[in-house]
Amino acid sequence: MKAIVIRAYGGPEVMKLDDVELPAPGAGEALVDVAVSGVNFMDTGTRRGYTKAMHTLPMTPGVEGAGTVVAVGDGVTNVKAGDRVAWFFAWGSYAQQVIAPATQLAPLPDDIDFESAASVMMQGLTASCFVSESYKIQPGRVALVHAAAGGVGLLLTQIVKLLGGRVIGRVSSEEKVAAAKSAGAEAVIVSKTPGSRTKFYRVPPNLRQTAAFAVKHKTAGSVHRCAVKLRQRYLREETSPPGSAA
Ligand SMILES: NC(=O)c1ccc[n+]([C@@H]2O[C@H](COP(=O)([O-])OP(=O)(O)OC[C@H]3O[C@@H](n4cnc5c(N)ncnc54)[C@H](OP(=O)(O)O)[C@@H]3O)[C@@H](O)[C@H]2O)c1
Repeated sequence: MKAIVIRAYGGPEVMKLDDVELPAPGAGEALVDVAVSGVNFMDTGTRRGYTKAMHTLPMTPGVEGAGTVVAVGDGVTNVKAGDRVAWFFAWGSYAQQVIAPATQLAPLPDDIDFESAASVMMQGLTASCFVSESYKIQPGRVALVHAAAGGVGLLLTQIVKLLGGRVIGRVSSEEKVAAAKSAGAEAVIVSKTPGSRTKFYRVPPNLRQTAAFAVKHKTAGSVHRCAVKLRQRYLREETSPPGSAA
């Protein structure tokens, strides 16, 4: 099968299309035909070598996507060949096929297309972790969302609003204000330095007084652990009969 392979860290030019052979899926793994690969913030860092402690070269970047299960290894019961799935944190997703830990696959309902699913796995689970594991958003609470016009920031803003919270966005330039507002931010601070409080005082006083928390960078490890936990919880809730304890 074809895959993007990097043999040295660097700019986009280090990504080459190559032929790669995958082994059969091992215990707890699934082989998946990739319909769509997600392009995530961390992929550029991977290409530059920032995550080299987590893999060896040559390697295929990409950590999320959506597609169809081809085969499963021993002990896999949550998916079977032919299932539509999406995944997060499975290295090697810039390829026609990927081997993913079955615990990181989520079944895909027929009404969600592959493009939509692939685009929200890492960023959506990260945003979900912030509002559930880092700080439980309650109706009326105010969140200060950094990088509010980025992928995580736009999703986080929408999720906070869905939960009844309110959002102050922080972006680095004026051009990003409209995007943050369109996702639901009631006020937007333009500042290049996340820690700077100088521009905070432009925020309407009612929001300024009640700012509840600021979402900052989380390490890949903690987001990954949280995402696994959330995925398990969502699946439990989906398969529990109404009214039963989730
Ligand atoms: N994607 C994930 O699954 C994930 C998981 C954990 C943590 N994060 C973190 O969340 C932040 C945003 O990620 P994203 O997925 O939303 O990416 P994105 O869609 O590419 O958004 C990028 C935004 O992040 C801000 N940013 C922070 N550090 C940056 C850098 N070194 N270079 C360029 N932009 C940078 C910028 O906002 P401003 O210009 O407005 O400051 C930029 O608009 C990053 O710091 C990332 O490490 C992402």
